[in-house]
Amino acid sequence: MKSFSDKISIRKPDDMHLHLRQGEILKVCAPESAKWFQRAMIMPNTIPPIINSERLISYRKEIEEAVFYRNNRESNIPKENFTPLMSFKLYPGMKEEEVIKLSKAGAVAGKLYPEGSTTNSEDGVKSWKQITEALSAMSKLGIILAIHGEKPDSFVLDREKDYLPELFQIIEHYPDLKIVLEHVSSVEGVNAVINGPVNLGGTITIHHLLITLDDLLGGGINPHNFCKPVVKTPKDREAIQNAALSGNRKFFFGSDSAPHPESLKIKTGGNAGIFSAPVAFPLLVSFFEKNGSKELLENFTSRYGAEFYNLPLNSSSITLERKESKVPERFSDIVPFMAGATIEWDISTSE
Ligand code: DOR
Ligand code: ZN
Repeated sequence: MKSFSDKISIRKPDDMHLHLRQGEILKVCAPESAKWFQRAMIMPNTIPPIINSERLISYRKEIEEAVFYRNNRESNIPKENFTPLMSFKLYPGMKEEEVIKLSKAGAVAGKLYPEGSTTNSEDGVKSWKQITEALSAMSKLGIILAIHGEKPDSFVLDREKDYLPELFQIIEHYPDLKIVLEHVSSVEGVNAVINGPVNLGGTITIHHLLITLDDLLGGGINPHNFCKPVVKTPKDREAIQNAALSGNRKFFFGSDSAPHPESLKIKTGGNAGIFSAPVAFPLLVSFFEKNGSKELLENFTSRYGAEFYNLPLNSSSITLERKESKVPERFSDIVPFMAGATIEWDISTSE
């Protein structure tokens, strides 16, 4: 495998699955994404959740201000360098009228959280049959259905696999709806995307690409590697790696970077979520350098997601240089993915 030169430029990437939270966490985390990514699909599982156009509009403004706030103080990344793509949370009985208003406000995706499947999903959906009106509206309006594909009452390692029958019912009833199976984590999830129709895609995170259950539980327990769906076996990871390296345009990058203060991660009943935004892109560069190519990397991070969402490709580029650095132990009170580890690439310029 040919390695990259010591400086590489690629089309600016998009992160098609990102949790930014609100308030102080948002101010700390949003600039970490804006540093690397041109756009990001912002998840709606805030408190309160993004379920109507008013909240979507004010949350987008809060995000833009958070990026700008830090940029004003300590970086030279201009505000217009980062565009939040907004999603809303589907809820039982949601009406077409609400979906139309959300679409007008700029929503590009609706997120389906099965009830109780992950952080802040107690108000989620028990069955797609509770959201038929919203799904029809989304199909008509060209809004993407993003699914957290886990069946919450199954055994933890089988939850994705056991959700797939529900996914295929949705596909059957809404053949024109574009659907993303978010953060694929298992052989079965990967195969469902590969064998499903063209309007079914899948996002892949950096943590499902790099780690397994061993990194969560194999030594001392590491709560910073705990997420939903949980990282699984080496076989599952291999299927995910092969999918990312296959050049199949159904698979694209979505970090699922999901920050939680350390105190909420290290406790009984600690929260699921890995804060990977500061390191995701340089880790992807290393992964594709070792196992793939620059072209495969660029398609995975900067083309296939945009194409699936019918968005123009970014016209700007990012340049990285081969330069070792240590991942900070903390960003405020949030411990990032790979804290303390050495990463091989750093940002050089972004324009
Ligand atoms: O690990 C996760 N954290 N998975 C999710 O689906 C949600 C996320 C969060 O919001 O913390
Ligand atoms: Zn998520």
